[in-house]
Amino acid sequence: MSEAHVVTHLEDRVLTVRFNRADKKNALTGAMYTALAEAFTAANSNPEVRVVLILGQPDCFTAGNDLADFLAVPPSGPDSPVMRFMRSLANLEKPVVAGASGIAVGVGVTLLLHCDLVYCGEQTKLNMPFSSLGICPEFASSYLLPRLMGHARAAELLMLGEGFSAKKALECGLVNALLPNAEVEATALAKARQIAAMPPRAIRITKMLLKKWSLATVNESIDFEAAHFMAMLHEPEAREAISAFMQKRKPDFSSFN
Ligand code: COA
Repeated sequence: MSEAHVVTHLEDRVLTVRFNRADKKNALTGAMYTALAEAFTAANSNPEVRVVLILGQPDCFTAGNDLADFLAVPPSGPDSPVMRFMRSLANLEKPVVAGASGIAVGVGVTLLLHCDLVYCGEQTKLNMPFSSLGICPEFASSYLLPRLMGHARAAELLMLGEGFSAKKALECGLVNALLPNAEVEATALAKARQIAAMPPRAIRITKMLLKKWSLATVNESIDFEAAHFMAMLHEPEAREAISAFMQKRKPDFSSFN
């Protein structure tokens, strides 16, 4: 990365981790996943970090996985950067706060399922277009979303792959509160600082207890989905969908069975 596409800043025991690739809508590359995994893993063992805060910019959280990267360097195993990123966030023992505004697509939505508090811009457009891209849900979303909102609503979001509003994300329990875009970051930071000032062991044990009963299945689900996801990336449906996005044209699935 010529300029840092993931920027970290530690202040008042809050580690801010910011996506910083605005020209590509903060689309996440392999190098960015590696940087994120390293930041989360280091935060876990650094006593100076009590809370992790994940941010993008007010007009864009992240457009999800970099689709050009998907074609050029498809993830291929448990040590892939994206897998290391997912495991490091799902298993992070310290509380995680996210401020998501503008655009949140794909893993930009599913990563929110692994945060403890999520503040969202009221105009934010969310989308999990996995099926439209010829791929399948990831980051344990096929397990966590039905538990969170019921099968019918999860199926609607994951099968139709249509964009949905921040209001719907709030109704579905995906986020804690909606705010004007310009206030998302300050609110998320204030909540992160509030937690950082609380008894750290009590916070860590509370988080451990909240996750304890689902964590093994979350990790199993991440691996199980990834096996399908990685295979599907090589299939004609995904190649056509992703090439069409890169070529700024409509995909044509008419010849597939
Ligand atoms: N991967 C790679 N590049 C991406 C990207 C992604 N996920 N999302 C956006 N970009 C790039 C665009 O190709 C464009 O690059 P260019 O300026 O070199 O042409 C730039 O970022 C700006 O994107 P653009 O599409 O012009 O912005 P927009 O405001 O019109 O639309 C989105 C924003 C997020 C709705 C649209 O970019 C999009 O649908 N992106 C794909 C999201 C996606 O499918 N993610 C993967 C989920 S698994």
